[in-house]
Amino acid sequence: MPDQSGGESLQALGEILGADGVLTDPAETAPFLTDHRRLYQGRALAVIFPRSVEHVSRVLAFCNERRIGVVPQGGNTGYCGGATPDESGNQVVVSLKRLNRIRSTDPLNYSLVAEAGCILAEVQRAADDAERFFPLSLGSEGTCQIGGNLSTNAGGTSVLRYGMMRDLVLGLEVVLADGRVLSSLTALRKDNTGYDIKSLFLGAEGTLGIITAASIKLFPKVRSSATAFASVPDVRSAVDLLARLRDASGDRVSSFELIPRIAVELTTRHIPGVTDPLAQPYSWYVLCELTSSRAADPLDSLIEEALTTALEDGLVLDAVLARSERDRIALWKLRETIPEAQRLDGASLKHDISIAVSALPRFVERASQWAHENVPDGRLVVYGHVGDGNLHFNLNQAPASERHAFLAREAPLKRAIHDLVREFGGSFSAEHGIGRLKVGELERYASTAELDLMRAVKRAFDPNGVLNPGKVLR
Ligand code: FAD
Ligand code: MLT
Ligand code: ZN
Repeated sequence: MPDQSGGESLQALGEILGADGVLTDPAETAPFLTDHRRLYQGRALAVIFPRSVEHVSRVLAFCNERRIGVVPQGGNTGYCGGATPDESGNQVVVSLKRLNRIRSTDPLNYSLVAEAGCILAEVQRAADDAERFFPLSLGSEGTCQIGGNLSTNAGGTSVLRYGMMRDLVLGLEVVLADGRVLSSLTALRKDNTGYDIKSLFLGAEGTLGIITAASIKLFPKVRSSATAFASVPDVRSAVDLLARLRDASGDRVSSFELIPRIAVELTTRHIPGVTDPLAQPYSWYVLCELTSSRAADPLDSLIEEALTTALEDGLVLDAVLARSERDRIALWKLRETIPEAQRLDGASLKHDISIAVSALPRFVERASQWAHENVPDGRLVVYGHVGDGNLHFNLNQAPASERHAFLAREAPLKRAIHDLVREFGGSFSAEHGIGRLKVGELERYASTAELDLMRAVKRAFDPNGVLNPGKVLR
């Protein structure tokens, strides 16, 4: 039951949003109060559903005035607890799901304007309907929202060719902490007018403002593709193969994903319809895709030739090409359901790291050795976006091991892996952000100068500390 001031706040929020815009019933708010990985269980004064930018603006002005913490939430698929309120019960969760219109599409400018609550897959579809292509692609694309993608600076499986979400933005509309609306939905590719304010909101995880819409870049529609699933002897061969394919294809590699044997075992065991694409088991695989906007580009023969030469040179051990769209979907299903299969198999400890592509083989060797020696009840599940130097260096609980004992290894494991990442000049958070989970890691690995500047930016944008308190920075 909210106290008196909580009751007044709920009344005020109801006046702004209407009765159907404010949820307080615990049965209805529950899905919004825990994160995807079930790491955090929060409480909230209410979960609210603005329908317009004006709603968001009035809510923020009110909450800023009353010093009520505001937690923006998109599809709630984030990995770091950024969209979950704390345990106080005093914060308000602002779900953007009703702000979900594609406002406009401009095929000749290769751009469209989408509201923050648009599901990523819907944005991809809108681009496709306009004979264009929006390249951001994640396993969660059926649920995550473009506002969440912008706020986490999401990566995924086509960064190698098209960049991260940050690289795909032309302009933003953002509601500031005090309710003012920063309307900068430009469709410009060139704009050198002082500081690039919009870039600060990208990857800010809702700590500097609430994004309500974005003008995003589109690309020529993909009209031909070639997809191969190849086994490689080791990570070094995967890295070498990537360089060769980029060279041989005129840089048309759009995805290049590393997959270990255990991921094939986990997905075939836990995910209906996933099968092992090759007849024999191998230690490592890559899933690679070439794409082109030209329907008649001979990508299949190009990839086939490159893989045949790689086979002769011992860089590839076996390979299969997708011969139909159905084959292609099946190969991608194997890749994209690895996280789900990992979850279904038991407890896991995750690290989302990036280092220079060339240093990946040595890193995997050293980090794996440490894990083998120090986490005997864990099984390595190391996979990810090799083309971006980004690996999900994960461990799953070994069969018959004790869940709590395994999870108790988290702190020393994390320290060892992240310290090694630092030694390699890498990042402890390549694409998943900081949220609440990695605040301590940011404090440990960022320099004093970086932290000072981040805190100064936070103070400038949110002097009363109402925007997603406790996330990114304490
Ligand atoms: P949420 O989880 O709702 O929020 C994430 C953060 O953004 C929170 O801090 C929240 O407060 C803030 N936020 C949300 N909307 C707004 C807004 N409109 N304005 C301001 N702040 C806002 N991530 C990758 O980068 N690459 C992957 O390959 C990838 N694969 C995934 C696969 C699976 C199966 C799953 C479950 C997740 C995966 N993710 C991946 C993680 C996740 O999907 C992304 O981080 C995604 O961008 C989060 O979007 P969301 O809408 O779910 O955001
Ligand atoms: C992926 O690439 O599948 C995700 O970013 C990693 C994960 O879900 O753990
Ligand atoms: Zn990933």
